[in-house]
Amino acid sequence: MFATVLLLLVALCAQGGNGEERGEEAQRPGHVTVVIVGGTGDLAKKYLWRGFFELYVNKVKGGNTFSFYGGGLSPADKGKPALFEILKTLSCSKDISQERCALLKEQFLRLTQYRELKTLENYQKLGKDIEQDLKQEGMTEAGRLFYLSVPAFVYADIADKINSSCRPTSGAWLRVVLEKPFGHDFRSAQVLASQLGGSLKDEEMYRIDHYLGKQVVAKILPFRIENKKFLDPIWNKHHIERVEIVLKETLDAKGRIAFYDQYGVIRDVLQNHLTEVMTLLSMKLPKNLSNSEEVLNNKLQIFRSLLPVGKKQAVVGQYQAYKTEVQQELNKTKDHVSITPTFAAVLAYIDDAQYEGIPILMISGKMLDERVGYARIVFKNDVFCVQNHNSVHCKPKQIVFYFGHGSLQYPAVLVSKNLFKPVLKDAEWKEVTEHKDVNVLGLSITDYYVHTPKKQREAYSELISHIFAGRKNSFISTENLLASWGLWTPLLSSLATSFPRIYPGGAENGDLLDICVKGREINYNSEVVIISNDQMGGTSAKGFQVMQGKFRGTDMVSAWSEELVNRLAEDLQEAAEAAVRENGVFHLALSGGSSPLALFYRLALHHFSFPWRETHVWMVDERCVPLSEAESNFNTLHDHLLQHVRIPYHNIHPMPVQLNQRLCVEEDRGALLYENEIRALVNGSSFHFVLLGVGYDSHTASLFPGSKWDEHGKKLVVMTESPNKPHQRMSLTFTAINGARRVAVLVMGKGKHELVTQLSRVKDNPDKWPVTGVKPASGTLVWYIDYDALLG
Ligand code: BG6
Repeated sequence: MFATVLLLLVALCAQGGNGEERGEEAQRPGHVTVVIVGGTGDLAKKYLWRGFFELYVNKVKGGNTFSFYGGGLSPADKGKPALFEILKTLSCSKDISQERCALLKEQFLRLTQYRELKTLENYQKLGKDIEQDLKQEGMTEAGRLFYLSVPAFVYADIADKINSSCRPTSGAWLRVVLEKPFGHDFRSAQVLASQLGGSLKDEEMYRIDHYLGKQVVAKILPFRIENKKFLDPIWNKHHIERVEIVLKETLDAKGRIAFYDQYGVIRDVLQNHLTEVMTLLSMKLPKNLSNSEEVLNNKLQIFRSLLPVGKKQAVVGQYQAYKTEVQQELNKTKDHVSITPTFAAVLAYIDDAQYEGIPILMISGKMLDERVGYARIVFKNDVFCVQNHNSVHCKPKQIVFYFGHGSLQYPAVLVSKNLFKPVLKDAEWKEVTEHKDVNVLGLSITDYYVHTPKKQREAYSELISHIFAGRKNSFISTENLLASWGLWTPLLSSLATSFPRIYPGGAENGDLLDICVKGREINYNSEVVIISNDQMGGTSAKGFQVMQGKFRGTDMVSAWSEELVNRLAEDLQEAAEAAVRENGVFHLALSGGSSPLALFYRLALHHFSFPWRETHVWMVDERCVPLSEAESNFNTLHDHLLQHVRIPYHNIHPMPVQLNQRLCVEEDRGALLYENEIRALVNGSSFHFVLLGVGYDSHTASLFPGSKWDEHGKKLVVMTESPNKPHQRMSLTFTAINGARRVAVLVMGKGKHELVTQLSRVKDNPDKWPVTGVKPASGTLVWYIDYDALLG
């Protein structure tokens, strides 16, 4: 019966259909199965079913047949009616007649069914049923699309189930769509990416950032290309005064505090939506817009050129009612305080010849005066009108990518008339010449050339059609994601204990949130700080001072993360200066991971007198991946520290994990090569300073539980195996580490509290707890543990 319906539908739809063909990549015709996991949830209700219905209407005439599943945790007797309630409300775009719409809807409903998707058996059954239907009807399979509209903590498990029981037949594609949040910081994003990587290939993952589906955002690159001849001379530091990327909202976070309070505005929108817009505005133009690899590489280039963003490049705020909402939704007592920001303004700089010195402001907040989103490029205007101040020459020169809402109410690209008359070679866009009398960002609408899409489309619908077409450009790749977290993680750690400025909300905010940019810093423009006693809450009791103590019988320094990192940076500089005084050189070995990022940032932005010229930087460990990849420890170190300081190239010693164009092959003897280099350059193979981290399983460097240390003998560098991907590693041994004059172990974040508690109790047992094998023979060991890790 399923097949009869399908075949009939193809015939019906082939007669008409209003979908536009949008030059998508060729794909094999055949049957497409769409599964929305979380199919009765909020996002599915608001956007996803609408998007898939639109896809069905537009694409079915292209020779594909479809079936749709709404998956949920409830059993069918509950899930089915809930799904039906959602599908009932679907509507067609205005250009489809009522009659035809009714027909299409009926077809869509018949092709859609509810599925309980909880256990592995549920997924196995789904996989089998899909296969059976295909076989029975003799259909060729084109592909399977799983849209995971569920909390991120279940992604890995679901991806695993899809991998083991729902992969399509050979030759057909699998596309798994994931919604943010993709991690909480660099490290957790990396862990999630590597977990997902165990079940899905990179090309099978589609990470959604719905901003990339907004018509105006998607227009940024084509606009830059089509108007290259006008933009080339002015798209640089000599002409651009500043860039603003703004998302203002009037809504609060009510109803989603459980999520929001863990994330805050920076993780919720700056790390993703606004960062994506920033890269589209600044990246080198790709030669071929549909070449995803080229687009991604150009984006990554921008991430590499961004200066670290620190505490002085950010201000944060929180709307007044937030505290009560948190207490209510999280069942907290009246003295509970949250310092999660609901407003943030951040200042970034791209450190390259084209954009150097241009302030890039990223601003977003809940409970502001209006709902509006835009990116505005303000150009310098060096014309000074002596008499006629209304002359067009004296007015602001700007290009505005207006995402929607606000005074204009529709998405548009606006170019002030004193710049140039833009070209938009896109039949789906039109110029608007008749306007209501509105003012947009300081200029009357009549002072702009205005272009808008002929037909407004929902971002989700747009992206769903891109997923179907396999256009990876509009999605976030793993490298892109990690690069973005690499930018934001140090700032987030440094803001972890900052009190946000409290603002009343809406128009009452007045000028309380106005900001001013001075030098490379950003501040609130007014000095008012409203922090009531209860907002200080219990947190103040712990104080912010640095505490000295003992941990596992040796010295420990503890403080809130920011203070701790400052202190570690100072200690490191002191050690460097002492070594240079004594020996004329400082040998420093650094570990990877996310904890040292804040330290790297601190060193790059504040320690201008650090003796980099005399410093040699070595690696504590490395993953067997090319050094240019985001997963490489050296790559992180390079992007976050080395490229920002004046260290001679020949003082930098990456681990040779890639030799003879292959990775970590035994006979290339990379470990021995590194060992020989240490023996040749480092006096007595004794580093002046070794910075270590410690993993959740207590591994340090790349020395994991269960490794055979005794086999390392006197070796300084060995190849090791990690339980996590990438499995192969190169690492300093305990012999190398314990030969150092000074070893620091940096432990940060609440997630490490349990580990710290365990470590405080266990005896030395490097087999089980590798970090307990760190015992400098004649040097000193200091633990740097932040309050979150120490106190939980
Ligand atoms: C979401 C955020 O990703 O984007 C929300 O989680 C935010 O907090 C929303 O409200 C903004 O999107 P838009 O499309 O309304 O600008």
